[in-house]
Amino acid sequence: MTNIGSSAQSKFIRAGVMGWPVDHSLSPKVHGYWLRHYAIEGEYIRIPVTPDEFTARLRNLQRDGFAGVNVTVPHKEAALATVDEAHPLAQRIGAVNTVVVRKDGSLYGFNTDGFGFLENLKAGFADFKTATGPAVVLGAGGAARAIVVTLLDAGTPEVRILNRTKSRAEQLADELHRIDGASLIVGDWTRRADYLDGAALLVNTTTLGMKNQLPLDLDLTALPSTALVNDIVYVPLETDLLARARIRNNPTVDGLGMLLHQARPGFEAWFGHLPDVTDELRTEVLAGI
Ligand code: ATR
Repeated sequence: MTNIGSSAQSKFIRAGVMGWPVDHSLSPKVHGYWLRHYAIEGEYIRIPVTPDEFTARLRNLQRDGFAGVNVTVPHKEAALATVDEAHPLAQRIGAVNTVVVRKDGSLYGFNTDGFGFLENLKAGFADFKTATGPAVVLGAGGAARAIVVTLLDAGTPEVRILNRTKSRAEQLADELHRIDGASLIVGDWTRRADYLDGAALLVNTTTLGMKNQLPLDLDLTALPSTALVNDIVYVPLETDLLARARIRNNPTVDGLGMLLHQARPGFEAWFGHLPDVTDELRTEVLAGI
């Protein structure tokens, strides 16, 4: 993700996050921390953009003085359709979350969600190897898509997808089979506990367990005690799933690190420095939640 070459000419560099709504995005806090920490002259701002305006606003990034932007809900698919060139990984995921304005003014898009996911696992549990055994992914939305593609690329021998709406999981599996020849196992949501048997990794990508949402109802009995359990929900930091996994001695990794790590390649592309995820950054971001 390096050497993409941003177009920023002046010393002051501007980037931001486009979304609708975007008020609750934590990205300005993350990038703001790094800008201060590395004493870089620049800013990272919230850019509220409606779906109607999105394509034009993205195309005008250079005119508006931006080195690039992050793109969040609901614009990630539209960003893929709008950029002049997209990284192959973003094409397979079907979404762009990071855009760089290149020197010639053209837009380059990539997707750092899977990078953030994997870096978070590695940082939280150094012993984890993606190729060790089957992974169980709960959910089939945008986050699940990035995670499944990343797990396949990282050599996970078997990926099992369980989603409330089974057709959505089947569609994801069919698409990835067409693109990658990947064989994914799609199961019934009601039988999700059975699919934990023999798993090396369990990831919750659904919104279940998030503050003000229902908890994730999942019997962990069949899950090997060696399996790593990760929740991409980070409010609360320790979800009910992670707490129950911890009590039965499974290694666990919370979801905050995915948010922090996915921000790193964009920061590097725009501001010229690959930043670190530190405890101080985690503490600062947590204080804002
Ligand atoms: P994201 O892009 O962040 O992954 P999303 O596309 O809205 O968000 O996906 C949310 C996921 O949570 C989906 O897998 C959704 O299941 P459906 O595809 O059936 O909607 C899942 N989810 C949300 N509420 C749920 C619930 N009450 N029970 C089970 N799954 C739920």
